[in-house]
Amino acid sequence: MMAAAILAGPHFVLMLAQFTGEHNSLHAAGPQASHIEWLYWVIFWITFVAFVLTIAGFTRAAAKSHSSAAEMLPVSTDPEGDRRATWAVGSAVAITVFTLFAVLFMSVITGKKVEGLTSNNPVTIQVTGHQWWWEIQYPNSQADQTVTTANEIHVPVGKPVVILTNSEDVIHSFWAPSVHGKRDLLPGYSSAFWIQIDKPGTYPGRCAEFCGLQHAHMGFSIVAEDENTFEQWEQQQLKPATDPGDPNAARGKQVFLTHACIMCHTIRGTDAGSKMGPDLTHLASRKMIAAETLPNTPGALAGWIIDPQRIKPGNKMAPNPLEPDDLQALIAYLQTLQ
Ligand code: CUA
Repeated sequence: MMAAAILAGPHFVLMLAQFTGEHNSLHAAGPQASHIEWLYWVIFWITFVAFVLTIAGFTRAAAKSHSSAAEMLPVSTDPEGDRRATWAVGSAVAITVFTLFAVLFMSVITGKKVEGLTSNNPVTIQVTGHQWWWEIQYPNSQADQTVTTANEIHVPVGKPVVILTNSEDVIHSFWAPSVHGKRDLLPGYSSAFWIQIDKPGTYPGRCAEFCGLQHAHMGFSIVAEDENTFEQWEQQQLKPATDPGDPNAARGKQVFLTHACIMCHTIRGTDAGSKMGPDLTHLASRKMIAAETLPNTPGALAGWIIDPQRIKPGNKMAPNPLEPDDLQALIAYLQTLQ
């Protein structure tokens, strides 16, 4: 009984923790997450009732027992008692087996419902896992109409969205608990799943499969907005970067194009076209940098550019010991990339 109570304690704290915060599988934002949440509560209440009955049984047995531990237990010679005990154990086994099959059945049904979303005209998003960030593309048959961004996914509210998955290096797992269950991203293997978000808002997600040193710093967010806002966002993301009017920012562009930045990043509309790191064409439109590790502020951006290894040790971006003037200009340029 003590062991059960000790086990139940942290569970209860964990359960309370689930009720707070936004990274929350019990705050379903769409149909798939609702199905999963429903199954969670069914299993929760079944195990809760089993827990209460077990504790009640133990308590009753302890209260009825008059013999001390040192005494030998008397051998039962009561056939009526034997019959009752057999009946009780038999029914308990039957109820347990029945419950397990019922839970299995409900899990299968929930799985079918979660997979059941389809549409002839969905929004399609390609998510590719990288150590340690998410490449996000909205594929289009015309290459110049394909939006490419990183870590921040925009979707229209109330519309089915199909997410195509892949990984560039190791196995990652895409998990936005308010939206869907975990989905593995396997290198060299494409798969697809559907999501739908019915409530506007920003839903955080994380990588849920250990994928190396910075696994814990591999976050993303899904921004669900009304259809108009989404389309405006998409149109804005399609535009190439414009030349900055401000002379300091213009100097920053030259810093970008003549230093290591150009080796890894793309800014459409410039000579920078490498796909090693995140596409920065609309960097300033994103709320966070470094896969949701830092806010997208000039200070955080400067700290990241100078010494990314201090913030996410082991990541693929090398330190950039820029002169202070160059760094200021570069930050000014990056802030124009709306
Ligand atoms: Cu990617 Cu863990």
